[in-house]
Amino acid sequence: MNTFCESLSHMAAPLLYLFSATLFILGLKRLGKVRTATSGNNLAAVGMLLAVLGTLIEMGLVDYQWMIIGVLAGSLVGAVTAYKVPMTSMPEMVALFNGFGGAASALVSLAVVWASLPDEGLVKTGTLASHLGATETVTSAASILIGAITLTGSLIAFLKLQGRLNHGKAILLPARHAANILLAITTIACAAWAGFFAETPLDIVLGILAFSACALLLGILLVIPIGGADMPVVVSLLNSYSGIAAAATGFAIGNQLLIIAGALVGAAGIILTQIMCVAMNRSLLNVLVGGFGEQSSGEGSTDTEYTTVTSCGAEEAAMLMENVESVIVVPGYGLAVAQAQHTVRELATLLEARNITVRYAIHPVAGRMPGHMNVLLAEADVPYEQLVEMDAINPDFKNTDAVIVLGANDVVNPAAANDKASPIYGMPILNVHEARTVFVIKRSLSPGYAGIKNTLFESDNTMMVFGDAKKVLQDLIKEIKEL
Ligand code: TAP
Repeated sequence: MNTFCESLSHMAAPLLYLFSATLFILGLKRLGKVRTATSGNNLAAVGMLLAVLGTLIEMGLVDYQWMIIGVLAGSLVGAVTAYKVPMTSMPEMVALFNGFGGAASALVSLAVVWASLPDEGLVKTGTLASHLGATETVTSAASILIGAITLTGSLIAFLKLQGRLNHGKAILLPARHAANILLAITTIACAAWAGFFAETPLDIVLGILAFSACALLLGILLVIPIGGADMPVVVSLLNSYSGIAAAATGFAIGNQLLIIAGALVGAAGIILTQIMCVAMNRSLLNVLVGGFGEQSSGEGSTDTEYTTVTSCGAEEAAMLMENVESVIVVPGYGLAVAQAQHTVRELATLLEARNITVRYAIHPVAGRMPGHMNVLLAEADVPYEQLVEMDAINPDFKNTDAVIVLGANDVVNPAAANDKASPIYGMPILNVHEARTVFVIKRSLSPGYAGIKNTLFESDNTMMVFGDAKKVLQDLIKEIKEL
């Protein structure tokens, strides 16, 4: 009976790991579409539960007391933050999660290193590699290095997104590239010394401490030159790092599931980073080198001058919309700021009741995080089929009666297509300027994230409707009802 139970427990952990890995992959696949995203998330969560069970079974007798305290405390913090955090602060929350993931990987590897050291501080007992094995030494070092960079890099990203560090702007230190290269070399040298040359446990610990401190500093220095609005790309990259750190930890402790899960996160993060860079027509190097948009002083700047801008109020806009048959709404970052997703849905319902076709044009980098507009509109129960991706909707603008640009700016700037000197030249845009009438709802003529003039605002067929997106929409709804 005992042997049966033992062999069952031997089989149970790998089987649970297999189910768990399968659920992670299926979950990730379903997360690729808005319609299936919730079920994908749930599948991945069940996968994680199976992974925890498998680990507990594999470890055998463990001290459950601390685990239960940890699970309760973690669940409480997670649940409270998930309920309280507004949609506009999602990137900050993801940044923190990435940082914690990186820290967890680094701490597990530090524990592995610590447990392998003999208890004789000053006596020469051999190198870390001779205690732990060369492969485990290298993978532990990789996990500590990437985990530490992810932790501090993510904390800086969090502070920048919150505008608490230099108001979210880039901090460009002199000779920063040379300093970073020097620090990276020092970090690797400390790791090599601690792993393969130091021979007393005390020297090894000192080497690891120096190595960890350098890696933590590197994380800070790599992220501070990047402007707040580029942070979503950095957060996605750091997400990838946290996965790579977890995979390295998996090698260090011989846990296959951690290797699989880490590799999935690492790959997904890097793919997302690449998609964002392509959608902004920027190379990853250009994002990482930092400083984009700083010269043109970013959102809120008034140094962009316009000569021929036509504006109107909600009443005139409502009258102009009286005879339209087709409307395309283009949501942007301002929609998220104004939290106008429910109001735009209300307007769409009103227009549909007047037999007007309403669709939403989704630019891949509208807003400040991937899928930002999809998530906001889904929150207001906008039907998925009304959300049309950029490439599919672009040919339709020329046959559209009215476009409502709602807090979007850079993603509808024709300069990206026809001004070679523009910093966003080459970025694919929504061709709203081709529509018969364009209503641009925003508070002022201030630029968007790229900090540049938008030639759309001077176009003959553009009407600026100044004001907070939610307020203007409410007024528009009132006026249309009174028509
Ligand atoms: P932006 O170009 O940043 O423009 C947003 C506009 O919203 C601003 O011009 C602002 O004008 C307006 N606004 C702000 N609050 C408002 C409110 N309460 N009511 C009405 N309007 C308001 O936004 P976008 O067109 O969505 O483009 C996104 C930009 O972010 C792109 O340049 C993209 O490359 C960059 N970016 C995106 C991502 C991702 S993943 N989405 C990642 C990194 C960078 P006023 O101040 O005049 O109101």
